[in-house]
This record gives sequence, C-alpha cells and structure tokens, in this order.
Amino acid sequence: MTPSHNGKLFIETVGCQMNMLDSELVVGALRKDGYSLTDDIREADTVLFNTCSVREHAEHKIYSALGRLKYSKLSRPNQVIGVLGCMAQKDQELVFQRAPHVDMVVGTGQLAEVPKLIDAARERRERSLAVSLDRKEGSRAEVSDSFQSYDPLREPEMRPTPHQAFVRIMIGCDKFCTYCVVPMTRGPEQSRPPKDILHEVKVLADQGVKEVTLLGQTVNSYKVKQDGKLFRLSDLLELIHDVEGILRLKFVTNFPKDMTDDLLQAVRDLPKCSQYLHVPAQSGCNEMLKRMKRGYTIEDYREMFGRIRSTMPGASVSSDFIVGFCGETDEAHQKSLDLIRECRFKNSFIFKYSPRPGTKANELLLDDVPEEVKRQRNQEMLALQNQISAEDNAAFIGRQVEILVEGPSKSEVKRGDSGAVGGPVQLTGRTLCDRIVVFDGNPRLAGSMTTVSVEDCTPTTLIGSIVTQQIQHGSSPLLPILA
Ligand code: 5AD
Ligand code: SF4
Repeated sequence: MTPSHNGKLFIETVGCQMNMLDSELVVGALRKDGYSLTDDIREADTVLFNTCSVREHAEHKIYSALGRLKYSKLSRPNQVIGVLGCMAQKDQELVFQRAPHVDMVVGTGQLAEVPKLIDAARERRERSLAVSLDRKEGSRAEVSDSFQSYDPLREPEMRPTPHQAFVRIMIGCDKFCTYCVVPMTRGPEQSRPPKDILHEVKVLADQGVKEVTLLGQTVNSYKVKQDGKLFRLSDLLELIHDVEGILRLKFVTNFPKDMTDDLLQAVRDLPKCSQYLHVPAQSGCNEMLKRMKRGYTIEDYREMFGRIRSTMPGASVSSDFIVGFCGETDEAHQKSLDLIRECRFKNSFIFKYSPRPGTKANELLLDDVPEEVKRQRNQEMLALQNQISAEDNAAFIGRQVEILVEGPSKSEVKRGDSGAVGGPVQLTGRTLCDRIVVFDGNPRLAGSMTTVSVEDCTPTTLIGSIVTQQIQHGSSPLLPILA
C-alpha cells in the first residue's frame, strides 16, 4: 500500500454467486496489500464495482452509481474507481466514454491484475483497460487462455456467512442460449482440475467452513479428462465428500440436458449432498425453447424431472423462467404456468426478457412483447409460484427438520444485535433440501446441525423452534425428520 491513500476499500457487487466469489477473491488480494473494507463509499479512496450484464437493469444500476461519483475525485485526488466483471468485459471502452472518471475497466478473466492496476492508476494516473479476447477474436485455445480462472486468496469477511463458502469448479459457458451474454462475458467453458478443487475445499474446511457450494454457469457440464478417463461432477462430489469438517455440499446452476443419472445417484447416495437441484427450464413452450436455443424440448425437461423424482422423491427442484421472450404468446406463457403447476418447484426466479447487445436474440429476433405484458406475466407467474411454495411449505408444519444453522437472520443483522448479551436471537438455517428455516436460538449454534420443529410458514420460509435434543449429522433421529 502506498501512503498516498487511506487504504479504505469500498466494493459493490451485483449479480450471481460467481460475482460474489470474484469479489471475495479480489478483496482477499487487496487485504494482503493493506486495504481494509468500508461500507461508506464517501470515506473510500478505492471504489470498485463488480458488475453484471445479464439484464439491462443491472447495468443501469452501476452506471447510475458511477454517475453519482462524477465529482468525488475533485475532493479526493487519490481516489481510484474501477469497474470489474461482466459489464467491463462487455462494454470495454464504452465504460470510459459513459463515465470518464473511471480509472480501470477489468474483465472477468483479468481479476488477478486488479492490485497492480490500482497502483498504476494511483501512482501514475494510468488508465487501464484489461479485458479478454472476444469469442471470435482468436482460436478457442487463445480465447480460453485470455479468460483466466482466478482462485487464489480467500476472504472470510466477504462470504455469505463464515461457515459457507463458494468454490468455482468451472468458468465460462458454451451453450450460447440466444438471450444470454454470459458466453461472451465469461468466455469458453473450462473446468478446473479436481486436485485443485479438493485442495481448496480442504483449506476452507481448515478455516471452519461447513458448507461448500460448487459454482459453474452450467455446473453439471463439469468434465475433465484425467488419465484417459472422463472425470465428471459426480466423481468430483465423491472426491470431496469426505473432507473432514464439511457437513454439506451444494452445486449451482444446472443445465437440464446435462442432468445425468450418475449425478442424481451421487446426490442421492452421498449424505452430505444437499438434495436440492436448481435446473432452470426458462420456458414451458417448445417454440420458445427453440428460439432460446436451449437444446431441449419440454418433453425432455419432463423426462429429466421424472428421473429426479424417481431417484430422490424428497428432493426439491427450483427453476428460472424468462417471461416475454421474443414472440411469446399468451398460450406460450400459459404453458410455462402449466409446467410450474406440474413440477411444483420449490421456488422459481422469474425475469422479464431484457435484450442484450451481442446476443443472437438481440440480433435476429424482435423484442415484441410490450413491457406492460411482461410485467403482468411476471406477476402472474410469481403469484402462482408463491401459492405453490406456500402450500408445499405448509406440509412441513407439525414436523421436525434437521438443519445446518447459518447464523443470525437478516433482520437481526440489521438491528446490529447478534446476541452480544448472550440471549437467544432469530437464527436461520437450511434443511437438506434447501428450505430456509427461522427459529430463536443461541448464535453460537451457527455452523452446527440441529433439529427444529416447524410451527408456521410463509411461501419462502419455515418458522419453528429448536428441539432441545441435539443430534449428530447422519445419526438416525428418534422422531420423524424430513429433509
Ligand atoms: N433477459 C432476462 N433474463 C435473462 N436471463 C439470462 N439472460 C437474460 C435476459 N437477456 C436469466 C435466465 C438465467 C438467469 C440467470 O437470468 O433465466 O437462468
Ligand atoms: Fe447463459 Fe444459457 Fe450459458 Fe446459462 S446455459 S449461462 S442461460 S448461455
């Protein structure tokens, strides 16, 4: 750290878990250089935005935040402002044009350079653009090389809770769904070697992490050739399953076509695996799926869903849907609603279609569903999903669930009272199939398994109280315990 700045770092992260992990790694590297985090942007000499391009709204949010910083450099000549991640890779020079006070634009494949580029900006007022090749700018190997997976230093303070950590097992995406920018912003699909992942999980377990979530844009497409044999996600789960200290394993996000039987069986047979699968359908209509170039029909999705149910009757499944995609008729929308009724997803993330520059849909298809119709369809789908989630949660009332305790609930954290006086606080945890449970308990329970009796629910949450008897993970409970 040079003495010309106060070492205070402000970072704002938008987007997916992959971005949360990237921010953790960037902060880990900067902390090593003497930086410390601040929540107050006004006192920071280093301001970073880790950005998302999946929908236009996420980009607007960042450009507005940058706009608000326009004059802050006048009073802070040493301030360095950096734009990192997907929007940096997608917009490149455009970021400087729209926000000339930005010092550095750093893509998803160049995050390792952030500390060096901050120094260059501060000491020499050098402006830098560090991005990967566009997908058509070189051979597959050249483009892949320009997107480096960045997985060095970890920073516990940036994790969802001290006991939960993300581990990247692959980067990029080769599916090229017509609406999606990710294949451009995160580059070609590349899986990390199993031994590196195992090592990282062991390091995290030594730091007290209990729950690891493996990340990939299409995490179940993970594959590495090793000694002439294909090493898949099911093999990887088996490899890391017995790492001491880890109590739970999860993975997101799955691609329907790659949901193979070996993976379902591994999830069923490995007791630490969360029986929760996020497998986005995007639409319930074949014509839409074709236009989206998803590579499956709704019959294929149903077949896959049936295999999940027959392998693990108690597993929960969640989905993503896009409403108002190009040419979506009311009939097509009804088919998406039918799929939600049929599959009874635990929850669905619902998005209004947002045309993205650089995608095939933006180039070739007309964004012809009016905003008001998108909004109505969004609301209708959300209401249906909420009704189903509430009904399925209500079935848990009167039962006991075994949960991994995460820590004080969001409302407790906001109140700034995490049981400092030793009394019980509202805690959250999750069941094996990822249902959120809130209950009162001692904050010291965070990171341990416990049993909660469910008394009430909302569409998103089970509400209960702790059962005094403590049980060990994997032991047979005395009372009927549901996942
Ligand atoms: N518009 C709306 N939603 C999108 N998604 C991806 N691209 C777009 C887009 N252009 C949604 C998909 C994906 C989730 C992460 O974001 O549903 O699964
Ligand atoms: Fe985007 Fe499709 Fe890849 Fe998911 S699978 S990241 S939606 S291109």
